[in-house]
Amino acid sequence: MTSLDATPPRLLDLAEMEERARESLGEMAYAYYSGGAEHERLIEENVTAWSRWQLHPRVLFDVSSVSTRSTVLGSPVSMPILIAPTALHRMAHPDGELATARAASDAGAAMVLSSLATADLDDVAQAAPDGVRLMQVYILKDRGRTAEMVRRAAAAGYRALVFTVDVPVSGLRTREVEQGVRLPDRFALPNLTDPAAGHGSGWGFMAQVVKEFDPALTVDDIEWLAGLSGLPVVVKGLCRGDDALRCAEAGAASVVVSNHGGRQLDDAPPTALSLPEVVDAVGDRMEVYVDGGIRRAGDVMKALALGAHGVLIGRPVLWALATGGADGVRELLGSFGEELARVMALCGAVDVAGIDGSLVRSVDGHPGERR
Ligand SMILES: Cc1cc2nc3c(=O)[nH]c(=O)nc-3n(C[C@H](O)[C@H](O)[C@H](O)COP(=O)(O)O)c2cc1C
Repeated sequence: MTSLDATPPRLLDLAEMEERARESLGEMAYAYYSGGAEHERLIEENVTAWSRWQLHPRVLFDVSSVSTRSTVLGSPVSMPILIAPTALHRMAHPDGELATARAASDAGAAMVLSSLATADLDDVAQAAPDGVRLMQVYILKDRGRTAEMVRRAAAAGYRALVFTVDVPVSGLRTREVEQGVRLPDRFALPNLTDPAAGHGSGWGFMAQVVKEFDPALTVDDIEWLAGLSGLPVVVKGLCRGDDALRCAEAGAASVVVSNHGGRQLDDAPPTALSLPEVVDAVGDRMEVYVDGGIRRAGDVMKALALGAHGVLIGRPVLWALATGGADGVRELLGSFGEELARVMALCGAVDVAGIDGSLVRSVDGHPGERR
């Protein structure tokens, strides 16, 4: 159970944390982490679209004990908030993904490790052996390399594969191009790609590594991926109900409604507005997750009330890592968890299962979608 009295409450100031992160990162790393595609409209819209929904609290329910506990594909977690896969954590902090994994494990939260991580997936597993870890996968043209990484991830205890499908080509990452973002020579990508990848100069980091990705993927590749290890496949990076349904029919265990944090197609819809369509399409067939612009516990609550099973957070974790290493990420997750418990109490929900569509309305007064 989460006690609301455990520590003095503090509201996270993510904007201030981002400013401090920017100072310690330097302009190239900051441009890589904070940037998006084209005119970067969607980055901001992802954040503001959550305000198009309002919580519709109920009162006079006994909330003397509130629990944020949940599950991720059956694995117990302390909160329905996961660490999104983001590349290159060692650019933010020398301990990189090892620090992030330790913090997630200490907080009881699940972490998705990027296949473009700067730490070996085995080392990450050993750094936090009790943590709930999922492995993000890009399918390369060189299928053998993808298969090898998947087998290693399964052997190292990763619980699922998060198959990212919204990068058939790189989005036009304006700031990456402007800054000539590249992987500093002292770092490598030990898991998926050629270890030399990403070091070259040119049109930015993603434009370099994406050359290895297979652009010819279809839903049939879900079965191929699942067959490599038997791990459940979570398809990440869609916004349409019909796509989610096709993935479900092709054997996906779950989907993540995501636009890659506004880094791919700038004119895609913000995820807060895509989520209901996807939940509606797949109903109770699978767990639906969402990411993009989740910056406060109220956003998490809205996502759950709209039918998400959990949310992923991306950039805030990078700011926390850059400013405080593992302690910073632990604090971030702790604060999200505490605030979620408070928001749940204020909404009359004592546990995650009690969060339903009646708790959310659009600003125009439309009720939230079914859960
Ligand atoms: C710096 C950075 C690197 C990312 N790298 C990956 C990646 O390697 N694989 C992936 O599936 N998504 C990647 N993403 C997308 C995130 O998983 C997530 O969808 C997005 O960050 C969520 O939006 P938010 O940053 O507004 O929370 C990356 C995002 C950022 C900001």
